[in-house]
Amino acid sequence: MVFYFSATGNSKHLAKVICEKSGEATVDITACVRENKYDFSAAKGEKVGFVMPVYFYGIPSAVIDFLKEINISFDGENYIFSALTCGAATAGAGKMLRKILGKKGITLNAQFAVAMVDNYIPMYEISNQTEALSKLAEAKPIMERIALLIEKKANGDFDDIKGQEFMTKFLYPLYRPFSSTKRFYANDSCIGCGICEKGCVCGAIEIKDGKPEWIKKSCANCLRCIHSCPQRAIQFGKATEKRNRYYNPYA
Ligand SMILES: Cc1cc2nc3c(=O)[nH]c(=O)nc-3n(C[C@H](O)[C@H](O)[C@H](O)COP(=O)(O)O)c2cc1C
Repeated sequence: MVFYFSATGNSKHLAKVICEKSGEATVDITACVRENKYDFSAAKGEKVGFVMPVYFYGIPSAVIDFLKEINISFDGENYIFSALTCGAATAGAGKMLRKILGKKGITLNAQFAVAMVDNYIPMYEISNQTEALSKLAEAKPIMERIALLIEKKANGDFDDIKGQEFMTKFLYPLYRPFSSTKRFYANDSCIGCGICEKGCVCGAIEIKDGKPEWIKKSCANCLRCIHSCPQRAIQFGKATEKRNRYYNPYA
């Protein structure tokens, strides 16, 4: 059972690669939240994984909320791991996740990380399609190695892209102000298709009079609404209009 949270497909892609090798099933955290599903049981010897992106050198708020609610019954012989995806570095995100899981009595056997394609367009331009494909090609052998280590139930900390762990202390506090939904809007290209509403893990979007409205003050800032909009209508502030969009083609 491999839980994953993914806005633009990188973490879903990694969860798929892991599950293809280990034979485990993927569990989509967004679907669980939307269906109010929080009770799980791991069979004897089953591998249990937590796969997610790094946000502001920490863990997405939607995942933290989900982990607070879940009840997993273990069988004593389970192999438990985390695997992070990011644009460049994880800093203290792995540590943060270990602490959150620790509060639920869950101890990790191993933690992994891989740099894939950055999707954070509010602050800077991201890779175009060609650049993204080349980054994913670089990530492929790393993902395969992670899957192999998980299959072999390797123990330890295999996250070698932390950079400076302490940077989480400075960057993560910025996550909350950026999670305000105030700067989201849909421009005139919006056709009211509702993809943004259906995909929002926070239930923060509602289509009203044929256009999305952000009905909650804050969200996970995952940007799924922006990247999944077929019209490129959804924006966060002024800067995103001209920037690239991204969705992992292997997810
Ligand atoms: C709100 C937000 C914050 C991010 N912060 C970081 C970061 O601190 N470090 C980093 O390397 N990448 C960061 N990223 C990039 C994502 O971690 C990366 O693109 C990830 O693989 C996306 O996963 P997904 O496609 O499964 O959603 C951030 C992305 C978002 C949306």
